[in-house]
Amino acid sequence: MRIVVLVSGTGSNLQAVIDAVTAGELDVEIAAVGADRPGTYGVERSAAAGIDTFVVDFKAYSDRAEWNAALTHAVAAYNPDVVVSSGFMRIVSPGFIEAFEGKYLNTHPALLPAFPGAHGVRDAMAYGVKVTGCTVHWADAGVDTGPIIAQEAVAIEDGDTEESLHERIKLVERRLLVSTLAVLAAEHKTGQLAPRS
Ligand code: GAR
Repeated sequence: MRIVVLVSGTGSNLQAVIDAVTAGELDVEIAAVGADRPGTYGVERSAAAGIDTFVVDFKAYSDRAEWNAALTHAVAAYNPDVVVSSGFMRIVSPGFIEAFEGKYLNTHPALLPAFPGAHGVRDAMAYGVKVTGCTVHWADAGVDTGPIIAQEAVAIEDGDTEESLHERIKLVERRLLVSTLAVLAAEHKTGQLAPRS
């Protein structure tokens, strides 16, 4: 199963995928890692691991439609079976979703449909919930919407900061992302991986 992973930041969840592949525990081919801006650690660590990388810099395009078209083109060039948004903090166009319909996977640091958006951890703390968590789901054209594949709860503890809670969520999120990809890879191997939306 060929995957393209999209990142905007440090890519620590991506690193868990790279580690699982390197250890022979996850049977996927990371065809490429792409970012929406230059200088991300996610791209740097992928290049260091010998993975193809690309940047489609959002700021280099005069409008969102052009950027979306360029991103779609860059990802399609790798002919992925699954595209993983792993801390990719841009909303993609319906055109992108259409090009990779039912193949676009997203992870989110909250129990969707609660607390979607760029600040899922902060918003959960601000609301005062006692339990939050993470979600792996098929992404559609909405913000952190689409069919849920896996979720796991994480308790918010007294004295938690956004950072400490996010780190604990990410420990679970990494495991959930790797195990979800393992299930999809097994389905792909037996020809059962059908794009879904
Ligand atoms: C992850 O927690 C991911 O769920 C979140 O960004 C973090 C990326 O961490 N994504 C979103 O909030 C998307 N709405 P990483 O760069 O260390 O893997």
